[in-house]
Amino acid sequence: MQELQQILDQALQQFAVIGDETELEQVKAKFLGKEGSLTALLKGLGKLSAEERPAAGARINQVKQGIEAALQQRRDALQQNKLAQKLAAESLDVTLPGRGMCAGGLHPVTRTLERIEQLFHSLGFATASGPEIESDFYNFTALNIPENHPARAMHDTFYIDPQHVLRTHTSPVQVRYMEANQPPLKIISAGRVYRVDSDATHSPMFHQVEGLWVDETISFANLKGVVQDFLQRFFERDDLQVRFRPSFFPFTEPSAEMDMSWNGGWLEIGGCGMVHPNVLKHVNIDSEKYLGFAFGLGVERLAMLRYGVSDLRQFYESDLRFLKQFN
Ligand code: DAH
Repeated sequence: MQELQQILDQALQQFAVIGDETELEQVKAKFLGKEGSLTALLKGLGKLSAEERPAAGARINQVKQGIEAALQQRRDALQQNKLAQKLAAESLDVTLPGRGMCAGGLHPVTRTLERIEQLFHSLGFATASGPEIESDFYNFTALNIPENHPARAMHDTFYIDPQHVLRTHTSPVQVRYMEANQPPLKIISAGRVYRVDSDATHSPMFHQVEGLWVDETISFANLKGVVQDFLQRFFERDDLQVRFRPSFFPFTEPSAEMDMSWNGGWLEIGGCGMVHPNVLKHVNIDSEKYLGFAFGLGVERLAMLRYGVSDLRQFYESDLRFLKQFN
């Protein structure tokens, strides 16, 4: 009888600390299996006298039931644990803030380029383009900037080889377009240009928009009208004023620099002029019959003013805190 109580105590103790179902079944065998301690006692019943046997048998059965009950309890507990763990591992906190899929946006310079193109299209200008690796001929010579001309020094040029440069302005597109098309011509060409220069207001790569209008009766007045109309629409300000200061460019005559009114002062936004007869000659357009104006605008300058950006370099640093403001 004493041994029975020990067996039961042992079983309950051992079951209580088992954390795994297979182990539980192994430990169960120690008591109830073929070689188990309780089974051994049952087998020993035959050695008892006929009077002792029923009480002992009943007691053994009681202990067996006790062990089985404890076993079942432990099994249930382990299963409960397992379920609880699984639930915990798979739990979702629906009160956490969402992780937004933020949509990308166009770069502010791209947005500005698109806006410029759209406005010029509405003024009847078509779009033209040219290569960024440009021959020395188109970038300089055909624009009336012959070799050794001091005007070449105004452009801090990246040379690829003695005959090729990263274009320093969009003006070569004028030449390419006039070569391939007959007047009347009315185009703009926006794109990247390159110069050896880098500080808060200069980037080695930046963007220009070139405009060209060639026809029989084009005058400087048309140029002023187009530029003013464009700028007033671009900045959505009817009172915006444009000023033309006499200047020099080899490919235009007369030439001017364009300023626009801004915060009570004037800001330079590009160059312009009437296409030089030498440039027309290079592309076989009769300069006695046709006249044209051309202009070049700095795109970053326009973007900085429109969006209130004070440092040009911000456009090219890929800082998401900056870029996200334009989404
Ligand atoms: N290509 C000139 C530059 O980058 C800008 C320019 C001036 C363009 C006068 C023109 C023009 O078309 O007529 O400095």
